[in-house]
Formats: sequence, C-alpha cells, structure tokens
Amino acid sequence: METIDWGKLGFGYMKTDFNIRCLFKNGAWGEPYLTDDENINLHMAATCLHYGQEAFEGLKAFRGADGLVRIFRARDNAERLRSSADYLRMAMPPVELFVDMVKKVVAASERFMPPYGTGASLYIRPLLIGSGAQVGVKPSEETLLVIFVTPVGPYFKEGFNPIKAIIDRHHDRAAPLGTGHVKSGGNYGASLLALEEGHKKGYANVIFLDPKEKRYIDEIGAANFFGIKDNTYVTPLSHSVLPSITNMSLRTLAADMGLKVEDRQIPVEELATFEEAGACGTAAVISPVGVIFDPDSNTTYTFGDGRTAGPWSTKLYKTLQAIQYGEQHDAHGWCELI
Ligand SMILES: Cc1ncc(COP(=O)(O)O)c(C=O)c1O
Repeated sequence: METIDWGKLGFGYMKTDFNIRCLFKNGAWGEPYLTDDENINLHMAATCLHYGQEAFEGLKAFRGADGLVRIFRARDNAERLRSSADYLRMAMPPVELFVDMVKKVVAASERFMPPYGTGASLYIRPLLIGSGAQVGVKPSEETLLVIFVTPVGPYFKEGFNPIKAIIDRHHDRAAPLGTGHVKSGGNYGASLLALEEGHKKGYANVIFLDPKEKRYIDEIGAANFFGIKDNTYVTPLSHSVLPSITNMSLRTLAADMGLKVEDRQIPVEELATFEEAGACGTAAVISPVGVIFDPDSNTTYTFGDGRTAGPWSTKLYKTLQAIQYGEQHDAHGWCELI
C-alpha cells in the first residue's frame, strides 16, 4: 500500500479504491453499487458526448479534530445537482439517494481521508450524464450518476494570500438566460480560453462580467465573488452565477458576525469602494483577492494593501474551516457525520 504525503497534495486526481454508481433506466433509479473501475463504458451516441447532457458537483469531507469524518452540506449539493439535472433534462437523483451514495463512497475510502491537521481533505466529485444513445437532439432516457473521491490539498497554490485577477470583457462563460446558474460542464469548457489568456498575462484568475451588459461582476473563475465594505458583505445577484454553497455559508456566517449581507448587482466601478474582496468556493473556501485589473479602462483596483488578506475575509475563512474540521460548534447543522 503506497504512503501518501498529505502535506504535499495539490488539487489533482489520485486513484482511490472505489467510486459509486447508480443508473436511472426504464423510468427508475437502480441500486447504487461500489466499483473499483475508473472507466465508464459508454455508448458512442450517449447524449453527454454530443449534446452536453452533463452536470457535476464538488464537495468535501474532512477529518475533524475529534477524529470524526464530516461531509459539508451534501444535501445542498444534492439539491443543486437536481436543479442542474432538471434544466438539462436528465433524471433528477433523489436527495437521499445522493447523500447515501456520498456517505458510502467516503466510508469505503477511509484510507484516503487526510488526517486532521494536514490542511488536506477528501474531495468528492459527483457527475451526472445522459448515458443513453440518441442521434436527434433530445434527452437521454438513461442517466448515470457516478461519485468518485480523491484526496486534495489547498486549491490555490498561493494559499491564503491575495491573488491578482483581471476583468475579461471578451469572453462569456454563459449566456444571459443560459446555463450559468447550473453546474454544467459546458460552462467550464467555455471558460478555459479566458482563464488561459488571464494566466498568460500574469493573473491567477479572471473576472467574468454579466454577459448581457458587461457592467456588473458575475463570477471569478470557478468561484463566486464577494466584496466587503462598511460592515457589509456584498455578493452578485445574477442569473448567470452559480449558487455557491460556500457563498451561502459565508453569507450566513457574515450575518452571524453582525455584518449586513447584500445580494445585488455589483457595477465594476464599485470595486473602488471595497475594503476587501474574495473568491469563494469549495476548493479554497476563500481565496482573497488583492488586486483586480480592468484592461479596458486601464484601472487597477486594490483591496487593503493588496498583499495581505483583510480581517473579515480571514475571520470568515477561519470560522468556516473550524466548522468543517469540527473545531467549532456546527450551529447551522451543515455537516453530515459518517
Ligand atoms: C462557476 C462556479 N462558481 C462558484 C463555485 C463555488 O461553488 P461551491 O461553493 O458550491 O463550491 C463553483 C464551484 O463549484 C463554480 O464552479
């Protein structure tokens, strides 16, 4: 059995012992089953390959200070996957089925669960695909749910240090009334070129604007955006933003801490007024943003000193992590214990 250097883990795929699968066929979900097969035997006319019938999720399990394993907000990921499935016309997995499958695959992957104190966690990746054959543009009659796990370290190599981001007005990750609000693979394919161009210019991430008017902040790479000023946590309200479960949690924690919380459009120029800014998502929890460059107006927006994370972002980050690692009471009942 190989030994894993938990401290050196990045955000990549490592083979584990099992994944779990369940097939919707003939109008019903079958029995979930664990398998050690990393491949999916798929019909060449499967709708996921041709017509983008694909959605996925991302969530994490943590080994707590008390030795227990906690899965963070799995029910909310189940609900979001259902909403993606509904929009993309795939069978919607029941919440209980999804949560049971997550628990089973995590329990079967115990030896890949990073120990407490390493900063690493077990990433859980559910994917839902139209697996039935069609040639015409119509939904598959079969839907396959696969959930695999892989141990990961912190997502952003910069760690909890502010990153620099660039505004991109030349690409959209989703259309105004399109698929931005669901977690569909096509959105990510559509974001790759923008991210690559941003990286080449020396920026760790790219800010996508609202695809209709290009006036408001939408998302930052594969994460939600937030800004903080005047004791207020502000995050974009837009049809083309994915409802981030981390952002939902941060809004709740921000309110617990006495901050005002606003979900509303954020005009680009308002960036000049934020004391702190951040990207939030499962992978990093919070990646503080120090600088945002707008190449079209040649404006640089700096948050704080641009080099150190702000006090609210730090407090929010630490509080959410403390709940995930069982160091702080889970007052909102977000963690499922294995
Ligand atoms: C486009 C996009 N926005 C936001 C997020 C953050 O969502 P969550 O906090 O549920 O991970 C993700 C990651 O899942 C994402 O891919």
